[in-house]
Amino acid sequence: MLYDNHGRHVNYLRLAVTDRCNLRCFYCMPEEGIDYVPKEALMSYEEMLRIVRLLAGMGIEKVRITGGEPFVRKDMMDFLRALSQMAGLRQINITTNGTLTAPLVPELKKMGIRSVNLSIDTLDKERFFQITRRDEFGKVMQTLEALLKHGISTKINAVVMEGKNEADLLPLAMLTKDSPVDVRYIEEMPFNGEGAHYQKLWWDHRRILEKLKEHFPSIEKLPDPPASTSSNYKIPGHQGTVGIIAAYSRTFCGTCNRLRLTPQGQLKTCLYDRGVFNIKDLMREGASDDQVRTVFLDALGNRAKDGFEAEKRRFQFPVSESMATIGG
Ligand code: GTP
Ligand code: 5AD
Ligand code: SF4
Repeated sequence: MLYDNHGRHVNYLRLAVTDRCNLRCFYCMPEEGIDYVPKEALMSYEEMLRIVRLLAGMGIEKVRITGGEPFVRKDMMDFLRALSQMAGLRQINITTNGTLTAPLVPELKKMGIRSVNLSIDTLDKERFFQITRRDEFGKVMQTLEALLKHGISTKINAVVMEGKNEADLLPLAMLTKDSPVDVRYIEEMPFNGEGAHYQKLWWDHRRILEKLKEHFPSIEKLPDPPASTSSNYKIPGHQGTVGIIAAYSRTFCGTCNRLRLTPQGQLKTCLYDRGVFNIKDLMREGASDDQVRTVFLDALGNRAKDGFEAEKRRFQFPVSESMATIGG
């Protein structure tokens, strides 16, 4: 089992497989996009499989595939198949924007992928275009339908943005009425390629909860699973649940169980740090398995206690990189 220097049990790896994306979400990148890293600078599938194999042997049980958009990377399904056959992993989950996912759902199900997190910030086609700057709403809704039809447990991620999708808060909650989905409202973070959009975050976790309570006064708090990013609630009579992720207020760092690898192989021990070590470069220099393991152990031995401390350690490099280069 892996523990960090604050006694937190670490068993979850977030693996960002690409920084490329076919959407341009307002909260993630500027309209013109970001400078993608050259292909050779991305980790290869072989490199990623090696890292996951080593980490699975050290106590990582859950891997979440993120991006960018994972399914824009060529041969992604072959990679997932190889990953799904790896010994030691308890679950492989995916976070996707859903634009390319619908036709892949039956195959994902066959591989044993049991849980997918889907980004849907609005249920309105026009607003979808305004937020993502692409006209792909229909494809995303097809993915939601396919996931539900195949019995894949589905969480919907909705970033709450002042002046952009406030009108969607309640319609999104209503999705939980007849479908077993978990809708999670996320505080916007300044990982958008340009820095903070607002002086102060209006839609923080408290305000989101107030809004939900105003409309659903009988909403009930649920016990949260260990190391959950979301604080979860049930609207009586609804099949699904709603949750709030205080990603900017960082209320859940005390139980943080995760490591991150960026598409370039940069190891991050917190979403808010700048990356602590480049594992891909080390592997390309010919490092042995033991050397790679040592890097992970050293990084976990020097982990910031929370996202505020990690941010402080960045000194003169304020948070502003695109989420697509980190993996969320
Ligand atoms: P589950 O494994 O289903 O609990 O999902 P998850 O919340 O770990 O992952 P997902 O990719 O769905 O992320 C949802 C939101 O939570 C995104 O906006 C992430 O950036 C944010 N998030 C995930 N992990 C962390 C974290 O360690 N710290 C902070 N501050 N935000 C996080
Ligand atoms: N703030 C909060 N969440 C974000 N995501 C992407 N960018 C941001 C941001 N700036 C979310 C996406 C996706 C998840 C991995 O991260 O909605 O669901
Ligand atoms: Fe693409 Fe996700 Fe970033 Fe949107 S948030 S641009 S879907 S990587």
